[in-house]
Amino acid sequence: MEFGKLADGTAIDAVELSNGRICARIIALGAALQSLQVPDRNGKPGDVVLGYATAAEYLAKPQYFGATVGRYANRIRGGRFSLDGKSYQLAANDGPNHLHGGVKGFDKAVWKIDAVNSGSPASVALSHVSPDGDGGFPGTLEVTATYSLNEKNELSLEYRATTDKPTVLNLTNHSYFNLAGGGDILGHRLTLLADAYTPVDATLIPTGERRNVAGTPFDFRQPRAIGERVRDGHDEQIRFGRGYDHNYVLRDEAGTLRRAAKLEDPASGRVMELLTAAPAVQFYSGNFLDGTSIGKGGRIHRQGDALCLEPQVFPDSPNHADFPSARLNPGDTYTNVIVYRFSTAGR
Ligand code: GLA
Repeated sequence: MEFGKLADGTAIDAVELSNGRICARIIALGAALQSLQVPDRNGKPGDVVLGYATAAEYLAKPQYFGATVGRYANRIRGGRFSLDGKSYQLAANDGPNHLHGGVKGFDKAVWKIDAVNSGSPASVALSHVSPDGDGGFPGTLEVTATYSLNEKNELSLEYRATTDKPTVLNLTNHSYFNLAGGGDILGHRLTLLADAYTPVDATLIPTGERRNVAGTPFDFRQPRAIGERVRDGHDEQIRFGRGYDHNYVLRDEAGTLRRAAKLEDPASGRVMELLTAAPAVQFYSGNFLDGTSIGKGGRIHRQGDALCLEPQVFPDSPNHADFPSARLNPGDTYTNVIVYRFSTAGR
């Protein structure tokens, strides 16, 4: 279906994947998840992701709602890195740093819808070609994003990419979840299967340290309400992030799909498990939502109205030799797999 048009008249198509209970709408702009209807414990559907009602708003007021973020999700210090002795300068679009692919990242590209499969699982495959030098990154990057929805209420997303020159990349999905379908997420309970996170400086660039979460507001090894410690100003890291905006190092080895997080909304009973093969997850508690983005249904989004769990390699990896590598060589295929698994729990 047509979702809408950009200001310049470009038509943006949408595809809906449904299994009779869950319905996901994916738009070609940013290969983004624009809406996700999920039943609560009484079977009542609610939209659990933030998004805009019109295509033009995604470009007019970018928030990365549901978007595919690239070439490099998260931050690179000073927008600078070097590869094989050659240095590269990217846009500094977040204070002194590079963020989320720069001025025109993958969230602002109109992706091609290559295939739609109505079978079980229902799926849609999108692709995008980023030319050599795009945004300052080396190599022609050919990227695919495939969403599929199965009968087990799992929405999966697989990113794949190839390059014709050595490059760095970090692709993720930037969905903002609110399992209540409204209100804020402070009462949501989060479990993160991570024993450590990477502390940041005041510009949110990792210092290089991996810090144990034990005894800190960052400990989500057991389910904890997000609102419990999100205002803990005694912790410098919470102050730097204005809440949570940190990279969690997942416990089990990267490369195979494993559980990373669980999010529960006790009020609606909706539960989401996150599985990924990525080494880390950025947990962002919606700290920069400041009431200036008006989402679907005319809803004003304020701080803490939604949260992101972004499976990724570590931020600023190209500048840290001991972080998991973000390098992709010609002949190799990059993959990042993310599964959002939905269920409900009783009171
Ligand atoms: C990420 C970053 C945040 C913020 C949001 C988008 O999750 O870590 O600091 O930039 O994206 O607003």
